[in-house]
Amino acid sequence: MFEEKKPKDAKCVQLYGSRIVLSNFQKKDLDATYISWLNDPEVVRYSNQRFSQHSLESCERYRRTFKGAGNHFLSVQRTDNQCKIGTVTAYINPYHRTAGLGILIGDKSVWGCGYGIDAWMTLVDWVEGVHSVRKITAGALSLNKPMIKILEKSGFHLEAVRRKQEVYRGVPEDIALYAKFV
Ligand SMILES: CC(C)(COP(=O)(O)OP(=O)(O)OC[C@H]1O[C@@H](n2cnc3c(N)ncnc32)[C@H](O)[C@@H]1OP(=O)(O)O)[C@@H](O)C(=O)NCCC(=O)NCCS
Repeated sequence: MFEEKKPKDAKCVQLYGSRIVLSNFQKKDLDATYISWLNDPEVVRYSNQRFSQHSLESCERYRRTFKGAGNHFLSVQRTDNQCKIGTVTAYINPYHRTAGLGILIGDKSVWGCGYGIDAWMTLVDWVEGVHSVRKITAGALSLNKPMIKILEKSGFHLEAVRRKQEVYRGVPEDIALYAKFV
């Protein structure tokens, strides 16, 4: 599904899906468009990011947490027009050999067009292949139907439900915890 380009720097990631490329989120990617995704109430409606106001400084602080930590913060870019449409994250625990993944397709104009599943599968394939990871996890509010669909289509199984864990628009809602054994 993806082809990993020969990196000069071992930490340089470039992963090709069908219609997207994932690459290290760099300082130059931290622009007004990226910040606007995080401050868009619709984009972050199912995430705890909705409780924070994001700025250049806060985003740069977040980006820096990935430096040298063995975790990955990658930009999602369309291959047809080079537009950046979102980000993915992979937190690797080398001791337990687990990985926790996340995704944000910030460009709402492409929601429902298949970029989310493409980016997700590309990330999952890579994490499975190169990190000696034995278990991959991800979670979502049960209300987040596209994300639940992505998890189920990419071979994750429902591991647990944290019942009425988070309040969404005044109503306590479930968090679904998914996992995939490699
Ligand atoms: C969740 C998210 C990644 C989905 O990305 P996307 O590019 O819109 O998803 P896709 O187009 O690849 O669609 C994935 C599946 O969800 C389905 N889907 C899309 N929108 C849907 C909706 N509103 N209701 C139900 N299913 C939906 C699609 O039909 C597709 O299933 P299919 O392949 O069987 O047709 C994206 O909406 C997003 O990043 N949202 C904001 C951040 C977020 O919620 N991240 C996840 C937090 S855990």
